Amino acid sequence: MAKTDSDKVRNKTHNDTPGNAKAVSVATLNALLADTIDATNATRQAHWNVKGSHFYGLHKMFEEFYGLLSEQSDELAERAVQLGGIPDGTTQGVGSRTRIAPYDANLLDGLEHCQALAERYAQLAKSLREGIDTTDEAGDADTSDLLTQVSRVVDKSLWMIEAHLQGKN
Ligand SMILES: [Fe+2]
Repeated sequence: MAKTDSDKVRNKTHNDTPGNAKAVSVATLNALLADTIDATNATRQAHWNVKGSHFYGLHKMFEEFYGLLSEQSDELAERAVQLGGIPDGTTQGVGSRTRIAPYDANLLDGLEHCQALAERYAQLAKSLREGIDTTDEAGDADTSDLLTQVSRVVDKSLWMIEAHLQGKN
């Protein structure tokens, strides 16, 4: 994860979360924002390019899931602002921070998209759970709670994606 000025607490606020907790949370939130936006874009790529006999169901499901992820990105970014941080959702910022594996832009087969997205959603959920612990230990129960909520959304989407892969792995 690249550390930049955006990962620091930059703005004053009356929010009484302890200073060190703010710094930990802003860096954690910026990293998870990048992962979440990357996963959103991968899901949209799948929505556009999916082919095969599962086309319609997957096309609609991927649309629902990138919408859900996009809403979660907004929550992560706005929590960073509340703590005095500057969320970085630029393409360049996301590209430098994301821990999600690059998505194959040529992927077409529906179940191959499910496999690729399942791996990335699992990666995102794992990083969210690490963030739950990191921010809780730093003393920011509110960010930890937000990450818990986001992780449940990602876990639910992962379950639905993996249901298409039953017997495939
Ligand atoms: Fe669409």
